[in-house]
Amino acid sequence: MALLETKDLSINFGGLWAVSDVDFAIEPRQIIGLIGPNGSGKTTFLNIVSGIYTATRGEAYLCGEKITNLKPYQIFQKGISRTYQSSRLCWNLSVADNLLMGTYTSQKHSIFDAIIRPCKVNNEIYDYLDQGLEMLSYFNPALVDRRYDLAKNIPHIDRRRIEITRALLSHPKVLLLDEPTAGLNDEETMSMMDEIRMIKEKLVDIAIIIIEHDMKVMESVPERIVVFNAGMKIAEGTYQEIVTDQNVIDAYIGGEDE
Ligand SMILES: Nc1ncnc2c1ncn2[C@@H]1O[C@H](COP(=O)(O)OP(=O)(O)OP(=O)(O)O)[C@@H](O)[C@H]1O
Ligand SMILES: [Mg+2]
Repeated sequence: MALLETKDLSINFGGLWAVSDVDFAIEPRQIIGLIGPNGSGKTTFLNIVSGIYTATRGEAYLCGEKITNLKPYQIFQKGISRTYQSSRLCWNLSVADNLLMGTYTSQKHSIFDAIIRPCKVNNEIYDYLDQGLEMLSYFNPALVDRRYDLAKNIPHIDRRRIEITRALLSHPKVLLLDEPTAGLNDEETMSMMDEIRMIKEKLVDIAIIIIEHDMKVMESVPERIVVFNAGMKIAEGTYQEIVTDQNVIDAYIGGEDE
């Protein structure tokens, strides 16, 4: 049984099939890259899997349990967390507060605990913060010292790292990364991909789906690559299989200036 699986997953926006009949599966410990031209449905696919959009037809399963039609917070609690193509940090909050936002729906205490047992609540929050800072240090140890800096004063690549750390704080089974290298230069992009590989080594059981524009960036990290075009999955395989697939060349690489 796959960790995350979709069958015929489809969504229609006013006549446009943004995602159409996508069968997809990922196992624990796998990294799968998702590529495709602009508008091919990559983000929409993640939006359906994470519950932001409701599928028009088809299903998604996590550990065999149907998750289609669940609310985003329920899917998050079941073990799928994500980052977004554009930054979702609160710029006027500190690095630490941004990290803690990712723990909101996982925190065990209630509002009554906050009144009656504030120490217990503080302990839980500090525990999450310690975990968050430790994870953040895997990316960039200097960020730990900047934990009380406002997010708006942090360099772009570090903001990306904070967003990934925030997603990891819920200890997801599946991590969805929507273009984590967006806005990064070539050197930063390579560094980010190394860091994603490092996450995989530290958190052995996690499965990661990573959307990326640049085919070359996909060469070293994912074990398999899935290619979307016009909402459909047109190819799946290793990097070598994908770069020689005629459908992919026509749909995607053919449009690149390389
Ligand atoms: N909420 C929505 N309402 C209507 N159309 C939408 C909506 N969300 C996405 N679409 C359309 O679905 C198609 C797929 O968009 P999507 O953002 O998933 O593409 P993408 O592969 O992530 O592209 P990019 O590489 O530019 O990020 C596009 O035609 C887009 O305009
Ligand atoms: Mg997108």
